Amino acid sequence: MRRPLLAGNWKMYKTLAEAEATASALKVRLKDVAGRDVVLCVPFLYVEAVGGLLLDSEIAVGAQNLFYEEKGAFTGEISGPMLKSVGCDYAIVGHSERRQYFRETNQDVNKKAKAALKAGLTPIVCVGETLQQREDGVTESIVTTQINESLEGLNKGDMLGTVIAYEPVWAIGTGRTATPEQAEEVQALIRNLLAHAFGKDVAEQVRILYGGSIKPENIYELMRQPDIDGGLVGGASLDADSFEKIVRFEDQRP
Ligand code: PGA
Repeated sequence: MRRPLLAGNWKMYKTLAEAEATASALKVRLKDVAGRDVVLCVPFLYVEAVGGLLLDSEIAVGAQNLFYEEKGAFTGEISGPMLKSVGCDYAIVGHSERRQYFRETNQDVNKKAKAALKAGLTPIVCVGETLQQREDGVTESIVTTQINESLEGLNKGDMLGTVIAYEPVWAIGTGRTATPEQAEEVQALIRNLLAHAFGKDVAEQVRILYGGSIKPENIYELMRQPDIDGGLVGGASLDADSFEKIVRFEDQRP
């Protein structure tokens, strides 16, 4: 009922030539793919070139961040309208690496999500607990606060134009994927929170991705979970072969 979304997050990898080569390869490989959405979230610098390459393809282009002001004296920042003007359709906001290394708070994430929506971009809002928080048994309260504060003030229409990604920090880039059951438990919690805040009809339509060490070998079981509607894929999206396999998740049955 919810259309799967497979999103690649290239982080700070690849030169322009490498980015174009991988995007071109994926364009060919995914020509016939149907029944799902695919997006590559590339470094700002490559949004225009990669987006241009993918114009007549099944793949959309996204950014990994944006600033919440539309314009002004904010040296080094990139706004939603700027991204939209170069063909960008999605923006990741509140990735754990932004929260950890750049001190982004839930309030920043909230402003960025609203700025993305205002610019006509689909925000992919990331939440997730650290290893310490999981071991302390506070996963539920951490994720609840992140969801409530990051989505504060959004209306139903905004929420329908937003994607959530649950990314346990301990699973990102560590090779240690959450088990499908561990992920599902939090994904279902998130859907309940959305139902509470926006109504059940909205919550049933919002896509909630899982992210954290997704690979061709584990995507099949993850996608079988009722509240996992897609993946936010880091390392395994850098390689056209492995990302193609993830996009074709039904074919990866072990
Ligand atoms: P990973 O990263 O797939 O390399 O664990 C996921 C992410 O950070 O979005």
